[in-house]
Amino acid sequence: MQQVKAVVAKAKGAPVEVVTINVPDPGPGEAVVQVQACGVCHTDLHYREGGINDEFPFLLGHEAAGIVEAVGADVTGVAPGDFVILNWRAVCGECRACKRGDLQYCFNTHNATQKMTLEDGTELSPALGIGAFAEKTLVAAGQCTKVDPSARPAAVGLLGCGVMAGIGAAINTGAVTRGKSVAVIGCGGVGVAAIAGSALAGASPIIAVDIDPKKLEKAKEMGATHTVDSSQVDPVEEIKRIAAETYDGADGADVVIEAVGRPETWKQAFYARDLAGTVVLVGVPTPDMKVPDLPLIDVFGRGGALKSSWYGDCLPTRDFPMLVDLYQQGRLDLDAFVTEEIGIDDIEAAFDKMHHGDVLRSVVIL
Ligand SMILES: NC(=O)c1ccc[n+]([C@@H]2O[C@H](COP(=O)([O-])OP(=O)(O)OC[C@H]3O[C@@H](n4cnc5c(N)ncnc54)[C@H](O)[C@@H]3O)[C@@H](O)[C@H]2O)c1
Ligand SMILES: [Zn+2]
Ligand SMILES: [Zn+2]
Repeated sequence: MQQVKAVVAKAKGAPVEVVTINVPDPGPGEAVVQVQACGVCHTDLHYREGGINDEFPFLLGHEAAGIVEAVGADVTGVAPGDFVILNWRAVCGECRACKRGDLQYCFNTHNATQKMTLEDGTELSPALGIGAFAEKTLVAAGQCTKVDPSARPAAVGLLGCGVMAGIGAAINTGAVTRGKSVAVIGCGGVGVAAIAGSALAGASPIIAVDIDPKKLEKAKEMGATHTVDSSQVDPVEEIKRIAAETYDGADGADVVIEAVGRPETWKQAFYARDLAGTVVLVGVPTPDMKVPDLPLIDVFGRGGALKSSWYGDCLPTRDFPMLVDLYQQGRLDLDAFVTEEIGIDDIEAAFDKMHHGDVLRSVVIL
Protein backbone atom coordinates (compact mmCIF):
# COMPACT_ATOMS: atom_id res chain seq x y z
CA MET A 1 0.00 0.00 0.00
CA GLN A 2 1.11 3.57 -0.66
CA GLN A 3 -0.27 7.03 0.01
CA VAL A 4 -0.80 9.65 -2.73
CA LYS A 5 -2.57 12.96 -3.30
CA ALA A 6 -5.98 12.77 -5.01
CA VAL A 7 -9.19 14.70 -5.68
CA VAL A 8 -12.26 13.44 -3.86
CA ALA A 9 -15.92 14.51 -3.89
CA LYS A 10 -17.09 13.73 -0.36
CA ALA A 11 -20.72 14.87 -0.44
CA LYS A 12 -23.39 15.83 -2.96
CA GLY A 13 -22.79 19.32 -4.34
CA ALA A 14 -19.85 20.07 -2.01
CA PRO A 15 -16.61 21.40 -3.57
CA VAL A 16 -14.04 18.72 -4.29
CA GLU A 17 -11.06 18.33 -1.93
CA VAL A 18 -7.45 17.35 -2.47
CA VAL A 19 -6.71 14.66 0.13
CA THR A 20 -4.33 11.80 0.81
CA ILE A 21 -5.63 8.39 -0.23
CA ASN A 22 -4.42 4.83 0.23
CA VAL A 23 -3.65 2.88 -2.95
CA PRO A 24 -3.26 -0.90 -2.43
CA ASP A 25 -0.50 -2.85 -4.15
CA PRO A 26 -1.92 -4.52 -7.27
CA GLY A 27 -3.48 -7.94 -6.75
CA PRO A 28 -4.39 -10.52 -9.40
CA GLY A 29 -5.62 -8.84 -12.59
CA GLU A 30 -4.76 -5.35 -11.33
CA ALA A 31 -2.26 -2.58 -12.11
CA VAL A 32 -1.12 0.59 -10.35
CA VAL A 33 -0.65 3.46 -12.79
CA GLN A 34 1.34 6.62 -12.18
CA VAL A 35 -1.02 9.18 -13.73
CA GLN A 36 0.63 11.87 -15.89
CA ALA A 37 -2.41 13.76 -17.20
CA CYS A 38 -6.19 13.60 -16.74
CA GLY A 39 -8.87 15.67 -18.51
CA VAL A 40 -11.78 17.27 -16.66
CA CYS A 41 -15.01 15.86 -18.14
CA HIS A 42 -18.63 16.84 -17.55
CA THR A 43 -19.21 13.43 -16.05
CA ASP A 44 -16.87 14.31 -13.15
CA LEU A 45 -19.13 17.24 -12.36
CA HIS A 46 -22.20 14.98 -12.66
CA TYR A 47 -20.63 12.67 -10.05
CA ARG A 48 -19.96 15.60 -7.70
CA GLU A 49 -23.57 16.76 -8.07
CA GLY A 50 -24.93 13.31 -7.24
CA GLY A 51 -26.26 12.94 -10.78
CA ILE A 52 -24.73 9.49 -11.38
CA ASN A 53 -25.36 7.74 -8.07
CA ASP A 54 -25.05 8.27 -4.31
CA GLU A 55 -21.93 6.22 -3.67
CA PHE A 56 -19.92 9.07 -2.11
CA PRO A 57 -17.02 9.63 -1.59
CA PHE A 58 -16.01 9.59 -5.26
CA LEU A 59 -12.44 9.58 -6.51
CA LEU A 60 -12.89 11.75 -9.62
CA GLY A 61 -11.07 11.82 -12.98
CA HIS A 62 -11.23 9.31 -15.83
CA GLU A 63 -9.65 10.70 -19.04
CA ALA A 64 -6.08 9.82 -18.33
CA ALA A 65 -2.72 8.65 -19.54
CA GLY A 66 0.21 7.47 -17.45
CA ILE A 67 2.93 4.91 -16.80
CA VAL A 68 2.27 1.48 -15.36
CA GLU A 69 4.15 1.30 -12.06
CA ALA A 70 3.35 -2.23 -10.90
CA VAL A 71 1.14 -5.15 -11.92
CA GLY A 72 -0.40 -8.13 -10.11
CA ALA A 73 1.33 -11.50 -10.26
CA ASP A 74 -0.79 -12.96 -13.08
CA VAL A 75 -0.88 -9.90 -15.35
CA THR A 76 0.64 -10.41 -18.81
CA GLY A 77 -0.99 -7.74 -21.01
CA VAL A 78 0.94 -4.77 -19.56
CA ALA A 79 4.19 -4.40 -17.63
CA PRO A 80 5.82 -1.75 -15.43
CA GLY A 81 7.09 1.13 -17.58
CA ASP A 82 4.40 0.82 -20.28
CA PHE A 83 2.77 4.09 -21.39
CA VAL A 84 -1.00 3.58 -21.31
CA ILE A 85 -4.33 5.31 -21.79
CA LEU A 86 -6.90 4.27 -19.19
CA ASN A 87 -10.24 3.01 -20.47
CA TRP A 88 -13.63 2.18 -18.99
CA ARG A 89 -14.25 -0.72 -21.32
CA ALA A 90 -12.00 -3.58 -20.19
CA VAL A 91 -13.98 -6.26 -22.00
CA CYS A 92 -14.67 -9.42 -20.01
CA GLY A 93 -14.85 -11.94 -22.87
CA GLU A 94 -17.54 -13.88 -21.04
CA CYS A 95 -20.78 -11.89 -20.95
CA ARG A 96 -23.53 -12.38 -23.50
CA ALA A 97 -22.41 -9.38 -25.61
CA CYS A 98 -18.80 -10.63 -25.68
CA LYS A 99 -19.86 -14.21 -26.47
CA ARG A 100 -21.90 -13.16 -29.47
CA GLY A 101 -18.95 -11.08 -30.74
CA ASP A 102 -20.20 -7.60 -29.81
CA LEU A 103 -17.28 -6.75 -27.53
CA GLN A 104 -18.03 -3.03 -27.79
CA TYR A 105 -21.23 -3.64 -25.82
CA CYS A 106 -19.56 -5.70 -23.04
CA PHE A 107 -22.01 -5.72 -20.13
CA ASN A 108 -19.43 -6.66 -17.49
CA THR A 109 -16.31 -4.55 -18.01
CA HIS A 110 -13.57 -5.15 -15.48
CA ASN A 111 -12.45 -2.76 -12.71
CA ALA A 112 -9.97 -3.29 -9.88
CA THR A 113 -11.24 -5.71 -7.23
CA GLN A 114 -9.50 -4.05 -4.28
CA LYS A 115 -10.66 -0.65 -3.07
CA MET A 116 -8.69 2.55 -2.75
CA THR A 117 -9.61 4.34 0.49
CA LEU A 118 -9.41 7.59 2.42
CA GLU A 119 -6.77 7.60 5.17
CA ASP A 120 -9.40 6.51 7.70
CA GLY A 121 -10.21 3.43 5.60
CA THR A 122 -13.45 4.73 4.00
CA GLU A 123 -13.76 3.05 0.61
CA LEU A 124 -13.71 5.32 -2.46
CA SER A 125 -15.87 4.95 -5.58
CA PRO A 126 -13.61 5.73 -8.56
CA ALA A 127 -15.34 7.65 -11.37
CA LEU A 128 -16.14 5.21 -14.20
CA GLY A 129 -14.04 2.65 -12.35
CA ILE A 130 -10.88 4.72 -12.93
CA GLY A 131 -10.32 7.63 -10.49
CA ALA A 132 -7.35 9.41 -12.08
CA PHE A 133 -7.23 12.86 -10.48
CA ALA A 134 -4.62 11.12 -8.36
CA GLU A 135 -0.86 10.77 -8.48
CA LYS A 136 -1.44 7.02 -8.73
CA THR A 137 -4.51 4.89 -9.23
CA LEU A 138 -5.41 1.20 -9.02
CA VAL A 139 -7.27 -0.24 -12.02
CA ALA A 140 -7.94 -3.58 -13.70
CA ALA A 141 -5.00 -4.39 -15.97
CA GLY A 142 -7.44 -4.53 -18.92
CA GLN A 143 -8.21 -0.85 -18.34
CA CYS A 144 -4.66 -0.02 -19.44
CA THR A 145 -4.21 0.25 -23.21
CA LYS A 146 -0.60 0.51 -24.41
CA VAL A 147 0.10 3.23 -26.96
CA ASP A 148 3.11 4.97 -28.56
CA PRO A 149 5.16 6.24 -25.57
CA SER A 150 6.38 9.34 -27.41
CA ALA A 151 2.83 10.82 -27.54
CA ARG A 152 1.88 13.79 -25.33
CA PRO A 153 -0.01 12.47 -22.27
CA ALA A 154 -2.35 15.49 -21.93
CA ALA A 155 -3.56 15.06 -25.51
CA VAL A 156 -3.84 11.29 -25.88
CA GLY A 157 -5.33 10.81 -22.40
CA LEU A 158 -8.47 12.52 -23.75
CA LEU A 159 -9.07 9.46 -25.90
CA GLY A 160 -9.96 7.75 -22.62
CA CYS A 161 -13.46 9.29 -22.64
CA GLY A 162 -14.96 12.32 -24.40
CA VAL A 163 -12.83 12.46 -27.54
CA MET A 164 -13.23 8.72 -28.15
CA ALA A 165 -16.97 9.05 -27.49
CA GLY A 166 -17.25 11.71 -30.20
CA ILE A 167 -14.97 10.17 -32.81
CA GLY A 168 -16.57 6.77 -32.24
CA ALA A 169 -20.12 8.17 -32.42
CA ALA A 170 -19.29 9.24 -35.97
CA ILE A 171 -17.07 6.44 -37.23
CA ASN A 172 -18.24 3.40 -35.26
CA THR A 173 -21.89 4.07 -34.40
CA GLY A 174 -22.86 6.34 -37.29
CA ALA A 175 -20.72 4.48 -39.86
CA VAL A 176 -19.73 7.84 -41.36
CA THR A 177 -17.67 7.47 -44.55
CA ARG A 178 -16.71 9.56 -47.55
CA GLY A 179 -19.76 10.23 -49.69
CA LYS A 180 -21.95 10.92 -46.68
CA SER A 181 -23.20 14.19 -45.26
CA VAL A 182 -23.03 14.69 -41.50
CA ALA A 183 -24.53 17.19 -39.07
CA VAL A 184 -23.40 17.46 -35.44
CA ILE A 185 -25.69 19.20 -32.95
CA GLY A 186 -23.74 20.47 -29.91
CA CYS A 187 -20.07 21.35 -30.41
CA GLY A 188 -18.49 20.83 -26.99
CA GLY A 189 -15.59 18.42 -26.60
CA VAL A 190 -17.69 15.45 -27.67
CA GLY A 191 -19.38 17.14 -30.64
CA VAL A 192 -16.13 18.62 -31.93
CA ALA A 193 -14.56 15.17 -31.69
CA ALA A 194 -17.45 13.82 -33.78
CA ILE A 195 -16.65 16.52 -36.33
CA ALA A 196 -12.95 15.58 -36.32
CA GLY A 197 -13.94 11.91 -36.73
CA SER A 198 -16.24 12.74 -39.65
CA ALA A 199 -13.44 14.72 -41.30
CA LEU A 200 -11.04 11.79 -40.81
CA ALA A 201 -13.60 9.52 -42.48
CA GLY A 202 -13.85 11.87 -45.47
CA ALA A 203 -17.46 12.98 -45.02
CA SER A 204 -18.76 16.15 -46.70
CA PRO A 205 -20.49 18.40 -45.95
CA ILE A 206 -19.89 18.40 -42.18
CA ILE A 207 -22.41 20.76 -40.61
CA ALA A 208 -21.76 22.04 -37.07
CA VAL A 209 -24.75 23.27 -35.03
CA ASP A 210 -24.53 25.12 -31.70
CA ILE A 211 -26.09 28.07 -29.89
CA ASP A 212 -22.65 29.48 -29.00
CA PRO A 213 -20.70 31.19 -31.82
CA LYS A 214 -17.36 30.48 -30.05
CA LYS A 215 -18.06 26.76 -30.27
CA LEU A 216 -18.84 27.09 -33.96
CA GLU A 217 -15.46 28.76 -34.59
CA LYS A 218 -13.69 25.82 -32.96
CA ALA A 219 -15.84 23.37 -34.92
CA LYS A 220 -14.67 24.98 -38.14
CA GLU A 221 -11.02 24.64 -37.12
CA MET A 222 -11.64 20.95 -36.48
CA GLY A 223 -13.16 20.15 -39.86
CA ALA A 224 -16.71 21.52 -40.07
CA THR A 225 -17.44 22.73 -43.60
CA HIS A 226 -20.55 24.71 -42.53
CA THR A 227 -21.79 26.17 -39.26
CA VAL A 228 -25.33 26.86 -38.08
CA ASP A 229 -26.15 29.06 -35.09
CA SER A 230 -29.39 27.44 -33.95
CA SER A 231 -30.17 30.35 -31.62
CA GLN A 232 -30.65 32.44 -34.77
CA VAL A 233 -32.01 30.10 -37.47
CA ASP A 234 -34.00 26.86 -37.70
CA PRO A 235 -31.28 24.19 -37.71
CA VAL A 236 -33.48 21.58 -39.42
CA GLU A 237 -34.14 23.81 -42.42
CA GLU A 238 -30.50 24.87 -42.60
CA ILE A 239 -29.16 21.30 -42.48
CA LYS A 240 -31.58 20.28 -45.24
CA ARG A 241 -30.59 23.28 -47.36
CA ILE A 242 -26.84 22.68 -46.97
CA ALA A 243 -27.11 18.92 -47.63
CA ALA A 244 -29.09 19.58 -50.81
CA GLU A 245 -26.36 21.96 -52.07
CA THR A 246 -24.02 18.96 -52.32
CA TYR A 247 -26.41 16.12 -53.00
CA ASP A 248 -29.23 16.90 -55.39
CA GLY A 249 -32.54 15.83 -53.88
CA ALA A 250 -31.16 15.33 -50.35
CA ASP A 251 -33.73 16.08 -47.68
CA GLY A 252 -31.29 16.27 -44.77
CA ALA A 253 -27.94 14.85 -43.67
CA ASP A 254 -27.18 11.14 -43.98
CA VAL A 255 -25.99 11.02 -40.36
CA VAL A 256 -26.99 13.46 -37.61
CA ILE A 257 -25.15 13.24 -34.31
CA GLU A 258 -26.79 14.68 -31.19
CA ALA A 259 -24.07 15.67 -28.68
CA VAL A 260 -26.10 17.75 -26.22
CA GLY A 261 -28.41 15.22 -24.55
CA ARG A 262 -31.75 17.06 -24.69
CA PRO A 263 -35.16 16.15 -26.19
CA GLU A 264 -35.40 19.26 -28.37
CA THR A 265 -32.00 18.74 -29.94
CA TRP A 266 -32.65 15.01 -30.44
CA LYS A 267 -35.87 15.96 -32.22
CA GLN A 268 -33.92 18.37 -34.44
CA ALA A 269 -31.59 15.49 -35.27
CA PHE A 270 -34.56 13.23 -36.02
CA TYR A 271 -36.06 15.66 -38.55
CA ALA A 272 -32.77 16.95 -40.02
CA ARG A 273 -31.64 13.57 -41.37
CA ASP A 274 -32.41 12.43 -44.87
CA LEU A 275 -34.85 9.57 -45.50
CA ALA A 276 -33.36 6.28 -44.27
CA GLY A 277 -30.59 8.23 -42.55
CA THR A 278 -29.09 7.63 -39.12
CA VAL A 279 -29.49 9.54 -35.86
CA VAL A 280 -26.79 8.97 -33.24
CA LEU A 281 -27.52 10.05 -29.67
CA VAL A 282 -24.21 10.51 -27.82
CA GLY A 283 -25.36 13.29 -25.45
CA VAL A 284 -26.58 11.86 -22.14
CA PRO A 285 -30.13 12.86 -21.10
CA THR A 286 -31.32 13.01 -17.50
CA PRO A 287 -33.92 10.46 -16.36
CA ASP A 288 -36.79 12.97 -16.39
CA MET A 289 -36.44 13.88 -20.08
CA LYS A 290 -39.03 12.75 -22.64
CA VAL A 291 -39.52 13.33 -26.37
CA PRO A 292 -43.02 14.80 -26.61
CA ASP A 293 -45.33 14.63 -29.62
CA LEU A 294 -43.32 12.41 -31.92
CA PRO A 295 -45.78 10.84 -34.36
CA LEU A 296 -45.03 7.13 -34.72
CA ILE A 297 -45.78 7.44 -38.43
CA ASP A 298 -42.74 9.73 -38.70
CA VAL A 299 -40.57 7.09 -37.05
CA PHE A 300 -41.85 4.56 -39.56
CA GLY A 301 -42.06 6.85 -42.56
CA ARG A 302 -38.56 8.30 -42.28
CA GLY A 303 -36.99 4.84 -41.93
CA GLY A 304 -33.30 4.41 -41.19
CA ALA A 305 -31.69 3.96 -37.81
CA LEU A 306 -32.10 5.64 -34.43
CA LYS A 307 -29.00 4.70 -32.44
CA SER A 308 -27.32 5.53 -29.15
CA SER A 309 -23.57 5.54 -28.74
CA TRP A 310 -21.96 4.40 -25.51
CA TYR A 311 -18.29 5.46 -25.39
CA GLY A 312 -18.31 5.70 -29.18
CA ASP A 313 -18.83 1.92 -29.42
CA CYS A 314 -15.06 1.78 -29.09
CA LEU A 315 -12.75 -1.12 -28.47
CA PRO A 316 -9.78 0.45 -26.68
CA THR A 317 -7.28 -2.16 -27.90
CA ARG A 318 -8.34 -1.53 -31.50
CA ASP A 319 -9.08 2.20 -31.47
CA PHE A 320 -6.61 3.87 -29.06
CA PRO A 321 -3.34 2.82 -30.77
CA MET A 322 -4.83 3.63 -34.20
CA LEU A 323 -5.96 7.12 -33.15
CA VAL A 324 -2.66 7.84 -31.38
CA ASP A 325 -0.84 6.96 -34.60
CA LEU A 326 -3.06 9.33 -36.59
CA TYR A 327 -2.30 12.01 -33.99
CA GLN A 328 1.44 11.38 -34.23
CA GLN A 329 1.22 11.64 -38.03
CA GLY A 330 -0.54 15.02 -37.78
CA ARG A 331 -3.83 13.71 -39.16
CA LEU A 332 -5.87 14.06 -35.92
CA ASP A 333 -5.27 17.24 -33.92
CA LEU A 334 -5.73 16.05 -30.33
CA ASP A 335 -3.72 19.05 -29.06
CA ALA A 336 -6.59 21.29 -30.18
CA PHE A 337 -8.79 19.73 -27.48
CA VAL A 338 -6.38 20.74 -24.71
CA THR A 339 -7.40 24.31 -23.92
CA GLU A 340 -5.33 24.55 -20.74
CA GLU A 341 -3.09 22.49 -18.49
CA ILE A 342 -3.93 22.91 -14.79
CA GLY A 343 -2.82 21.64 -11.39
CA ILE A 344 -4.55 19.18 -9.09
CA ASP A 345 -5.85 22.10 -6.97
CA ASP A 346 -7.63 23.77 -9.91
CA ILE A 347 -10.49 21.36 -10.57
CA GLU A 348 -13.28 23.50 -9.07
CA ALA A 349 -12.12 26.39 -11.27
CA ALA A 350 -12.19 24.05 -14.27
CA PHE A 351 -15.79 23.03 -13.42
CA ASP A 352 -16.72 26.75 -13.39
CA LYS A 353 -15.14 27.32 -16.79
CA MET A 354 -17.25 24.53 -18.33
CA HIS A 355 -20.22 26.90 -18.26
CA HIS A 356 -18.50 29.74 -20.12
CA GLY A 357 -17.87 28.08 -23.47
CA ASP A 358 -14.17 28.98 -23.80
CA VAL A 359 -12.81 25.58 -22.84
CA LEU A 360 -12.95 22.26 -24.69
CA ARG A 361 -10.86 20.50 -22.08
CA SER A 362 -8.89 21.52 -19.01
CA VAL A 363 -6.28 18.84 -18.36
CA VAL A 364 -4.74 18.20 -14.95
CA ILE A 365 -1.01 17.55 -15.10
CA LEU A 366 0.22 15.30 -12.28
N1 LIG B 1 -22.27 8.60 -24.80
C1 LIG B 1 -21.10 8.66 -24.19
O1 LIG B 1 -20.41 7.65 -24.06
C2 LIG B 1 -20.61 9.98 -23.67
C3 LIG B 1 -19.28 10.13 -23.22
C4 LIG B 1 -18.87 11.39 -22.76
C5 LIG B 1 -19.77 12.44 -22.72
N2 LIG B 1 -21.06 12.25 -23.16
C6 LIG B 1 -22.10 13.32 -23.16
O2 LIG B 1 -21.96 14.10 -24.33
C7 LIG B 1 -22.59 15.37 -24.08
C8 LIG B 1 -21.65 16.48 -24.52
O3 LIG B 1 -20.48 16.48 -23.70
P1 LIG B 1 -19.41 17.66 -23.83
O4 LIG B 1 -18.26 17.31 -22.95
O5 LIG B 1 -19.15 17.93 -25.26
O6 LIG B 1 -20.25 18.84 -23.17
P2 LIG B 1 -20.14 20.40 -23.39
O7 LIG B 1 -20.96 21.05 -22.32
O8 LIG B 1 -18.72 20.78 -23.56
O9 LIG B 1 -20.84 20.66 -24.82
C9 LIG B 1 -22.22 20.80 -25.01
C10 LIG B 1 -22.43 21.75 -26.20
O10 LIG B 1 -23.81 21.79 -26.52
C11 LIG B 1 -24.16 23.13 -26.82
N3 LIG B 1 -25.59 23.28 -26.63
C12 LIG B 1 -26.27 23.40 -25.46
N4 LIG B 1 -27.60 23.53 -25.72
C13 LIG B 1 -27.74 23.47 -27.05
C14 LIG B 1 -28.84 23.55 -27.93
N5 LIG B 1 -30.09 23.71 -27.47
N6 LIG B 1 -28.63 23.46 -29.26
C15 LIG B 1 -27.37 23.32 -29.76
N7 LIG B 1 -26.27 23.23 -28.97
C16 LIG B 1 -26.46 23.32 -27.64
C17 LIG B 1 -23.30 23.95 -25.88
O11 LIG B 1 -23.17 25.29 -26.33
C18 LIG B 1 -21.99 23.18 -25.91
O12 LIG B 1 -21.14 23.64 -26.94
C19 LIG B 1 -22.91 15.40 -22.60
O13 LIG B 1 -24.29 15.07 -22.45
C20 LIG B 1 -22.05 14.30 -22.03
O14 LIG B 1 -22.57 13.77 -20.84
C21 LIG B 1 -21.48 11.05 -23.65
ZN1 LIG C 1 -18.20 -8.85 -21.74
ZN1 LIG D 1 -15.87 11.49 -19.43
